[in-house]
Amino acid sequence: MDIPSDDIARFVAATAPEPDDLAREMDYYAEAEGFPHVGPEVGGLLRMLARMVDARRVFEFGSGFGYSAYWWAQALPDDGQVVLTEFDADELDQAREFLTRGGVDHLASYEHGDALDAIERYDGPFDCVLVDHQKHRYREAFEAVRPKLAPGAVVVADNAMTAGPIEFDKLLEMVADEESDPDDVNEHTQGIYDYLHAVRNDDDFETVVLPVGEGIAVSYYLG
Ligand SMILES: C[S@@+](CC[C@H](N)C(=O)[O-])C[C@H]1O[C@@H](n2cnc3c(N)ncnc32)[C@H](O)[C@@H]1O
Repeated sequence: MDIPSDDIARFVAATAPEPDDLAREMDYYAEAEGFPHVGPEVGGLLRMLARMVDARRVFEFGSGFGYSAYWWAQALPDDGQVVLTEFDADELDQAREFLTRGGVDHLASYEHGDALDAIERYDGPFDCVLVDHQKHRYREAFEAVRPKLAPGAVVVADNAMTAGPIEFDKLLEMVADEESDPDDVNEHTQGIYDYLHAVRNDDDFETVVLPVGEGIAVSYYLG
């Protein structure tokens, strides 16, 4: 029996981990601002992945107002670190306010500016990474953080299936048939395709795309 995709999304949402009061408030904030945060289903998965790999250090490409960072932080030890990167200073200030209220500000390093510049200032090793910035630069982010991963690290990319500007039908055609060459693919769609191609063809990684939220690609570093 084929389950309609709307029902799958409702099922996953209904069985997702319960956000705490602050995460719920952040969900309301995202809704009010029309901000594309990962949402509680993906947030809960990030926290679980961090627990599974005993994460100490996390790097995010694209942090917005700190929602995904808050979920990661809940799984980190008291001397852990989550590096937030964000172009928008106001969003980063908002992140600091939320993470302070959540009692995890001491774990956070706030990097204002381009995430691709920020990663150059860190040696790693990182146990978990979230790729959630400009879609056409996902592959660049992967290449920049790859040498800084701890063995057994997990790299998560959001919007692996969809997002506002991503052309799902074309992306599906491209991943289903590598020889296909759909017309006029936009840079966001091409960026996701290039990222998936890179992680799936890297022998040091195992990658699974999960239909949670807007689709996430979870890559496990075997190195
Ligand atoms: C989808 S949102 C991130 C949401 C966040 N991960 C969450 O779920 O709470 C993407 C954010 O990345 C920021 N951004 C995009 N490209 C960036 C870059 N190269 N460097 C830093 N921030 C970037 C945008 O300003 C935006 O706030």
